[in-house]
Amino acid sequence: MKKRILSGMRPTGKLHLGHLFGALENWKSLQEEYECFFMVADWHALMSEYASPAAIQENIIDNVSDWLACGISGQKAVIFVQSQVPQHLELFMIFSIITPLGLLERCPTYKEQLREIENRDLSTYGFLGYPVLQAADILLYKAQAVPVGVDQLPHLELTRSIARKFKNLYKKDIFGEPQALLTQANRFPGLDGRKMSKSYGNYIGISEAPDSIQKKVQSMFTDPARIKLSDPGHPDKCNVHAYYALFYGSKKEEIESACRASKIGCTECKRQLAEALVKFLEPMREKKLELLKDKKKIYDILAQGQKKAQAAAAKTLSEVKELIGI
Ligand code: TRP
Ligand code: SF4
Repeated sequence: MKKRILSGMRPTGKLHLGHLFGALENWKSLQEEYECFFMVADWHALMSEYASPAAIQENIIDNVSDWLACGISGQKAVIFVQSQVPQHLELFMIFSIITPLGLLERCPTYKEQLREIENRDLSTYGFLGYPVLQAADILLYKAQAVPVGVDQLPHLELTRSIARKFKNLYKKDIFGEPQALLTQANRFPGLDGRKMSKSYGNYIGISEAPDSIQKKVQSMFTDPARIKLSDPGHPDKCNVHAYYALFYGSKKEEIESACRASKIGCTECKRQLAEALVKFLEPMREKKLELLKDKKKIYDILAQGQKKAQAAAAKTLSEVKELIGI
């Protein structure tokens, strides 16, 4: 029997290369080996975006079209929207009752977000419970493994301790303890060399238009010591060159020596990189535009996913309710 995994993504914006290499490429290969549940975590998105929720609905369809465009398949994996499977909230409620408050208050991601996110008020009851809902997401499907980046490890630890607490309280092991499947490329470099992130504005969208890719690449910083074409460049100090390694490997060495010998200018160097990026993303962009022309296909996949997810969720929840006598 295949091992079961579950992972989720919050629909808080358009997806970019960081999502592609940090999660989606990984999901894509996992779906060949595991029984996969891939979830749009819209309740989790609402926890931080509750003051302007309108975009969430749009992002759901947009993000799922990106998932499908990059090769996640509704045939191989169960693709669904969290809020369409109400059992998540029931299990969330039950876990809320047994989760120690201190565990949530001490959670490093919670403290960090409270400190760092300034334009939203996150000092709410719901937001404190964010990892409890995530535990419900995972344990509702008795997932054995959860592909996540390092930033999510505290939530997985919390999930495991909720599972243990439940088992100790009610003397039955319904859930097991899920393992983290650490995603390697968690820090995909942005256009400025920092981690690619929407909030840094240093990203390239998975379905970004070619002219916008050209513009963004042209605005990348290069070797600061290179002012005129005749100044020899230092490709090792230039993020454009790092991107060559990622997207145009066959040209990397040629660019490196041309840059050092002042034989190529930064504008031309970036133009060629952007071209390579456009070419790399083109098949996904085409598939996505195709999907968005007739959204019925997307809705059908989500409806099918909902059905399968709900069947699995209902089974677990009835075991839980029977055990606690509710
Ligand atoms: N908290 C996760 C994130 O921000 C999203 C998420 C919600 C998730 N539920 C999940 C991830 C369950 C893995 C498993 O990335
Ligand atoms: Fe960077 Fe290319 Fe300019 Fe060299 S030529 S500094 S690698 S952008």
